Amino acid sequence: MSGGIEIEGLVFQAGASGQAAASAPDRAVASHLIPEDLAIDRSLRPRRLSDYLGQEKVKESLSIMLDAAKARGEVADHILFSGPPGLGKTTLASVVANEMGSNIRVTSGPAIVRVGDLTSILTTLEEGDVLFIDEIHRMNRAVEEVLYPAIEDFALDVILGEGPAARTARLPLNRFTLIGATTRTGLLTGPLRDRFGVSFRMEYYTPEELAAIVRRSAAILDVAIDDAGAIEIARRSRGTPRLANRLLKRVRDFAQVRGDGVITEDMAACALDFFEVDHVGLDATDNRLLEVLCVQFSGRPVGLTTLAAALSEDPDTVEDVYEPYLMRQGLIMRTPKGRQATARAWEHLGMAPPVE
Ligand SMILES: Nc1ncnc2c1ncn2[C@@H]1O[C@H](COP(=O)(O)OP(=O)(O)OP(=O)(O)O)[C@@H](O)[C@H]1O
Ligand SMILES: [Mg+2]
Repeated sequence: MSGGIEIEGLVFQAGASGQAAASAPDRAVASHLIPEDLAIDRSLRPRRLSDYLGQEKVKESLSIMLDAAKARGEVADHILFSGPPGLGKTTLASVVANEMGSNIRVTSGPAIVRVGDLTSILTTLEEGDVLFIDEIHRMNRAVEEVLYPAIEDFALDVILGEGPAARTARLPLNRFTLIGATTRTGLLTGPLRDRFGVSFRMEYYTPEELAAIVRRSAAILDVAIDDAGAIEIARRSRGTPRLANRLLKRVRDFAQVRGDGVITEDMAACALDFFEVDHVGLDATDNRLLEVLCVQFSGRPVGLTTLAAALSEDPDTVEDVYEPYLMRQGLIMRTPKGRQATARAWEHLGMAPPVE
């Protein structure tokens, strides 16, 4: 397994979710794991389904599936979790293992370089173990092919001998549950996707769900917060629990130093304004991007490379890191002629859109 910080058997790789995330600066509103998250991750990470807030549909289906498997004395079906960074895929994998009373082995697609790396993991799994493969879309093809019989028949096909005398033998494996996580379902090969018994797509959290997560985390960290304070942090957290916890921690520090330590709506707003996370979760770069489109280019469509140059950013970073949230908020749109601000963008900047 490659480097990373290990907490309770789970290995955390800061900024490992995708190429662009790795090259983008560690923004306060980054949705991928950044080093400052690691300090609080251990205590805040839910262990059981009952502590895992939100994602109600996913939780309900999982709970039925796990109860049924337990009642039959079988291992749970293989599970695929997909969705954007920081929504709780890794957390849910460890929750599944806890609910099944199983051990979890954690690795990731890019960490399994050679076929031998995978076979040594598979042959040491114990009956009922959970094998978690993060970023499963980044596994190489040769490794992936070894995984097929392992997940379908709990067997390894090994080649004995060489040349014309070579023959294959089947080596039985202990039964296990594979849990795959991916931020990019589209990059998963068809044969691999088809071999998962169930596949869950994680959705962004509502502000109410995030507020519940903030309140839970505040209770664990022994931070005083009122409901309006929790909602204020939630609104600025871009639908992402990882971000909600990170912002809570920053607001806590601010409230301690600049106030009486209690997080109210005003305190949360004041702290997050100070950290340049605005009322809908945009940071300074997001706002600069909107200004480039609205002011510098007067609302005309702008090509990606031009936009990136105006922001002194890499086009891939603009596309993968900055644009998705702005598009999700309906602030910008992609047109055949380039990127364009919507009426909401002007409204957000407190300006009137140009008259045609
Ligand atoms: N439903 C939830 N309830 C409470 N806390 C949560 C929930 N989901 C995630 N978290 C918190 O958010 C953090 C990020 O979650 P996690 O690492 O599982 O995300 P991920 O989807 O695996 O992200 P990545 O794609 O970057 O690997 C966790 O440390 C956990 O504390
Ligand atoms: Mg993860």
